[in-house]
Amino acid sequence: MKQVQVHRYGGPEVMQILDAETPGIGDWELLVQVKYASANPKDIFLRKGKMKSYLSISFPVKLGQDFSGVVAAVGKKAGPFRPGDRVFGMVNQSNNGTLSEYIAVTPNEIWYAPENLNFAEAAAVPLAAQTALQALQTIAKIKPGQRVCINGASGGVGTFAVQVARISGAHVTAISSEKNHALCRELGADEVVDYKTTPPEKMQGSFDVFFDVFGNQSRPKVRHLLRKDSWYISTVPNFRNIRDTVLALMKMSKSRLVVVESDSEDLKILKKWIEAGDLKPVLEAEFPMHRIAEVHQRIETKRTVGKIVVQIG
Ligand SMILES: NC(=O)c1ccc[n+]([C@@H]2O[C@H](COP(=O)([O-])OP(=O)(O)OC[C@H]3O[C@@H](n4cnc5c(N)ncnc54)[C@H](OP(=O)(O)O)[C@@H]3O)[C@@H](O)[C@H]2O)c1
Repeated sequence: MKQVQVHRYGGPEVMQILDAETPGIGDWELLVQVKYASANPKDIFLRKGKMKSYLSISFPVKLGQDFSGVVAAVGKKAGPFRPGDRVFGMVNQSNNGTLSEYIAVTPNEIWYAPENLNFAEAAAVPLAAQTALQALQTIAKIKPGQRVCINGASGGVGTFAVQVARISGAHVTAISSEKNHALCRELGADEVVDYKTTPPEKMQGSFDVFFDVFGNQSRPKVRHLLRKDSWYISTVPNFRNIRDTVLALMKMSKSRLVVVESDSEDLKILKKWIEAGDLKPVLEAEFPMHRIAEVHQRIETKRTVGKIVVQIG
């Protein structure tokens, strides 16, 4: 089978499409034929070796975190899935590599794909939407009427975060560049802010949650927008955010790093919202696997609107 591999850290040119053995599966695993994978900034960090100090990964590095596809084989204890089922999900081991024709997964990492999405759309959901769900509902436990600010609202995670906040009944302020304000409003933002003219340090207001999706803020920088009991949630695993997360777990801080993990229960919630027409993926583009270098170049511009997906095979 074909698979995207990295044998040395570097630029987009280090990615190669090579032949690899189709993975075998144990009793608790399933084999999935991947139809689409989505592109995420994490793959850029993996390709450059920026995660090597805290993830034990050896060469070849296999890229790709989330996917949509069809179940090809099922281990004896890997129910309730059957061969032929359409599924979507995310691998919880960074080096499992969904930019691959087949992957072995565990049942808790996947769920049945939303029936009203095609494979390209379904692949855009698992990593980014679970990040938004886990930040806003699992960590911040947002309630109707609360005020939520999303920084980086027009990107992969942000477009889902605006929708999750709106579905949860929150009043949503979306920070993005001006050209993406119409999209943010369409997704459910009540207010929009252009970070070029009004950066967060110049904003006014009081929020229950500041979700720093883009990750260029910190609690001290947005302190004027938060009360003591408001949540500051980031996506960036730097020293401050990791230290604050440890303190938050001891109930001594309201600042947390979200670390997304795939969970069938969360995928079930997302599927239900998508099938009800409440949540939708925003797709910027679709590329064939052999153009993976271009996909990485586009993600590295940090200007992606929604998600980019990659057709496998
Ligand atoms: N910890 C975790 O579990 C986890 C999970 C998922 C993602 N992440 C991290 O979260 C970050 C965002 O991921 P993503 O997939 O959403 O990335 P993305 O799709 O590549 O983000 C692109 C967006 O960033 C926005 N942006 C660029 N400059 C900005 C600025 N100065 N202020 C605010 N927004 C700005 C752009 O909006 P405009 O064009 O409108 O400016 C664009 O829409 C990445 O660092 C990723 O690694 C972490």
